[in-house]
Amino acid sequence: MNDPPKSLHGQWSSGLAFTLAATAAAVGLGNIWKFPYMAGANGGGAFVLVYLLCVILIGIPLLMAEITLGRRGRQNPAFSMRYNAITGHHSRHWQWVGGLIIAAGFLIVTYYSVIAGWALDYAYQAALNHFADASPQAIQQLFANLVSNPWKLILWHSFILIGSTIAIGLGVERGLERSVWLMFPTMLILLIIIVGYAAYMGDFRQGFQFLFAPDFSKLTTQGVLLALGQAFFTLSIATGSIMMYGAYVPTRVSIPRVSCFIAGADTLIALVSGLAIFPIVFAYHLDPAQGPGLIFETLPIAFGQMPLGRLVGTLFFIMLVFAAFTSVISLLEPTVAFLIERFRLRRTIAAGLTCFTAWFIGLGTVLSFNHWQNFEVLDFNFFESVDFLTANLMLPLGGLCISIFIAWRFNQTSLAHELHWRHRWSLIILRGLLGILSPLVIVLIFAHALYS
Ligand code: PHE
Repeated sequence: MNDPPKSLHGQWSSGLAFTLAATAAAVGLGNIWKFPYMAGANGGGAFVLVYLLCVILIGIPLLMAEITLGRRGRQNPAFSMRYNAITGHHSRHWQWVGGLIIAAGFLIVTYYSVIAGWALDYAYQAALNHFADASPQAIQQLFANLVSNPWKLILWHSFILIGSTIAIGLGVERGLERSVWLMFPTMLILLIIIVGYAAYMGDFRQGFQFLFAPDFSKLTTQGVLLALGQAFFTLSIATGSIMMYGAYVPTRVSIPRVSCFIAGADTLIALVSGLAIFPIVFAYHLDPAQGPGLIFETLPIAFGQMPLGRLVGTLFFIMLVFAAFTSVISLLEPTVAFLIERFRLRRTIAAGLTCFTAWFIGLGTVLSFNHWQNFEVLDFNFFESVDFLTANLMLPLGGLCISIFIAWRFNQTSLAHELHWRHRWSLIILRGLLGILSPLVIVLIFAHALYS
């Protein structure tokens, strides 16, 4: 057990490939869809400030912890946790933490893929010029028509998961890495084009001010907790993705440096998405605090009215699909790796089985927007239950266990070695953040989620 394990699935071809893949996993609907509407509804700059603090003080340390555990274990998160625990003479039951985060990622993907499907539908509608000169009511109707039609939702949801089966089935280098190299730079270029357009055509000053001028009177405790939850979700913490991708990292890569890069790039892209969306929203006198419908019900109104709106709208939603797709594959890979390592399945079979099961459970989310809308347990429909279970219970719990394991169970000399750190003080700060601050804050969200 003391020989460092080798990954059965190969490795990223380079440190850069890993950095790109992990950043692409982190950047997704959370950045382009969730972050702007949350900032919009919770006081703009004030929310952004709290969110930044959460990313720096809790997000980056947890990213470092996950990559370290993955790289040492070189297996799916459950087996990596077991390896790390056993080599440190701790209980093998720590493997259940790995199991928990694999399950969290898998459950998230069942609804994430449905929402990625909405983006696919919108790219299609924009290309067909369906937003042209449509009234706000007509755009709302368009959205209502989409979500009330289970067949349409199932079609797009299937496209996303068939694409994922192929990408994952091809393996780490030929499938995951290639998808990322193709999609992530394209997504960035599209984003830059759209921000440029927003700066030129939209009310950039007001958009900028809205996002960066803090109005603390609009920030509530609820907003603070949302900021923390968003920091977890957007960095893909405690979902298996990062620990899994860490298992394929070449040894010489500097974990602290990559972690800072991932968090920095992810945050930058969230802010830039805000700068792409709000100037357009303000220029067309729409409501920035509209909530989850911001990009599906508000933005298309502007696309329908502005010059080149058909092109910009289509590019915007293609960008969203690419961002989401690279996250979807990262959410599925831990389950696939687990099936291969545990049951010795062939990769293509494991990928097919995982994607099919995710597709099937995803039907529950599809139906939550139409036939099962009123089928509720404790006030939650199916989709809301999965979202609540993962975002409010499983992610915080997983994050809590990982923090505690790294700070209080993991050999600190090995940690310094893994992080290539020679200074004692860096380690002491990291341990303070992971061992004390992060558990305290997580218990707080936890209590709040249960209480409310
Ligand atoms: N971080 C992704 C986003 O912001 C979502 C995600 C969560 C992806 C967990 C992978 C794992 O959209």
